[in-house]
Amino acid sequence: MIEIRNLVKKYSGKTILGGINLDIKDGEIFSLLGPSGTGKSTFLKSIIGLVKPDGGSIKIDGADITKTFGEFEIQKIRKNFGYLFQEGALFDSLNVWENVAFGLRYLTDIKESEYLKTAGEKLELVGLKNSENLKISELSGGMKKRVALARAIAANPKYLLYDEPTTGLDPVTAETVSELIKEMSKKLKVTSISVTHDVKLALEISDRIALLNEGGFACLGTPEEIKNSKNGIVKEFIENSICRK
Ligand SMILES: Nc1ncnc2c1ncn2[C@@H]1O[C@H](COP(=O)(O)OP(=O)(O)OP(=O)(O)O)[C@@H](O)[C@H]1O
Ligand SMILES: [Mg+2]
Repeated sequence: MIEIRNLVKKYSGKTILGGINLDIKDGEIFSLLGPSGTGKSTFLKSIIGLVKPDGGSIKIDGADITKTFGEFEIQKIRKNFGYLFQEGALFDSLNVWENVAFGLRYLTDIKESEYLKTAGEKLELVGLKNSENLKISELSGGMKKRVALARAIAANPKYLLYDEPTTGLDPVTAETVSELIKEMSKKLKVTSISVTHDVKLALEISDRIALLNEGGFACLGTPEEIKNSKNGIVKEFIENSICRK
């Protein structure tokens, strides 16, 4: 389980996260909504120690990543995570297959035949069975997103963190990604945390949703509670997002 207490992050004196408190239970699908630039990626990166907070704690199964120093200890915690980066963060010089196998090859101790098989299975799962040998530069935006997703799930992580999993995708592919997130959660029993401005996605996949606004949660609840929220900020965000689709 993930326990976040009074998480504070500032950039150049400006508060981005102003004291976030949140427990994410094992197996839960949690989504953080918010407009561009509110600190969603900062929040997600803090969970795996890519961003060092200015205050508070983040315990991952009891281990506080904000107080963990040394690459070895941080890697030990990070092994539990799959991370879908907002920018994809794929290696252009490697092909699709090699990108997915990358983490398995370097971070786990398995044979080549095994990691290639695993990478193949994950690519099949995201619908890229016949694209294994393509270069990253030969892929469309949606395909890149799916390669990044296959890589995030490659090592069967306990926690999956998704940064804007549907941005830049057509509605049909976005729906596939939405289904995939739910499937991963059910099949692999992972705990999923998505940060996104895609309200439709959040409402479809989540057990709970929060809306980030001015460094704090404007609301935190089930999709039903969010949809029916009387909070003006929440209503405006949800209504604007749905109307624009
Ligand atoms: N490394 C950094 N140094 C300084 N400022 C930063 C840094 N990273 C993010 N910021 C600032 O912090 C704020 C929040 O950024 P963040 O990327 O977390 O937002 P976001 O909610 O993920 O936005 P988007 O929806 O556009 O991805 C922004 O104003 C951004 O400019
Ligand atoms: Mg972001």
